[in-house]
Amino acid sequence: MYPSLQGKVVVITGASTGLGRAMALRFGQEGAKVVVNFYNNGEKADEVVKEIKNSGSDAVAIQGNVMVEEDVKKLVQTAIDSFGKLDIMINNAGVENPVPSHELPLKDWDRVIGTNLTGAFLGSREALKYFVEHDVKGNIINMSSVHEMIPWPLFAHYAASKGGVKLLTETLALEYAPKQIRVNNIGPGAINTPINAEKFADPKQKADVESMIPMGYIGKPEEIAAVAVWLASDESSYVTGITLFADGGMTKYPSFQAGRG
Ligand code: NAI
Repeated sequence: MYPSLQGKVVVITGASTGLGRAMALRFGQEGAKVVVNFYNNGEKADEVVKEIKNSGSDAVAIQGNVMVEEDVKKLVQTAIDSFGKLDIMINNAGVENPVPSHELPLKDWDRVIGTNLTGAFLGSREALKYFVEHDVKGNIINMSSVHEMIPWPLFAHYAASKGGVKLLTETLALEYAPKQIRVNNIGPGAINTPINAEKFADPKQKADVESMIPMGYIGKPEEIAAVAVWLASDESSYVTGITLFADGGMTKYPSFQAGRG
């Protein structure tokens, strides 16, 4: 448990499912108040809110598209209206779809870059605006991926978006460090969430992914939530501008395991 998170106010985008949901629940358990953003899954978001309230903290659900400037402004405003302030912004919403790059439609490119990169930019900008205006030593966490460093055929738009998030985060960390505002990325490997549901439902594809993970298993959303609360807490007070990979070793060239090569 992280006592410094008690009473903190956190906005999490895409928080009705997967990693966003796991983080929302964990922040609630830590005594933080959570703005649960959802895109098109109101019922699931309401369940997350209910669970947080049951665990003794407070939460509110709000619909919004992270690609839409006014919607993102509304997220920060909801934190202020509901809980009086903003301390932590987690830009988690993300999408992906496999397409050979020579056939990648512009609308797919725009949707993935718009959600994963522009969404993280808008969320970061609105949070920074609030932190600077109110002299808050705030905290921003962007959900990147191992694919901010590992190229990914059929997912050029996704890899480009996460590569963009890497330098967005590093740049903002550098720019706002003098104000004690910290900006970091989490880089998950393969985690069991709806984004991977189809792939992991197929035993062959699941085994193939597992073979690329030195620790040998697909991560649980709670293992990413555990990283998020540490990064948002005072326990990581001197950490800014990093990507914390939580990937079972996936970024460490697993094909070289057992002395091959
Ligand atoms: P997910 O599909 O459960 O979560 C994505 C969430 O984003 C959904 O709730 C979805 O409704 C929301 N969303 C999509 N477009 C949106 C928009 N325009 N505005 C607001 N919300 C929107 O999948 P997961 O795994 O929880 O993904 C969360 C983040 O983690 C994503 O950024 C993803 O790229 C990243 N990630 C996931 C990995 C995994 O293996 N699950 C690995 C590396 C990164």
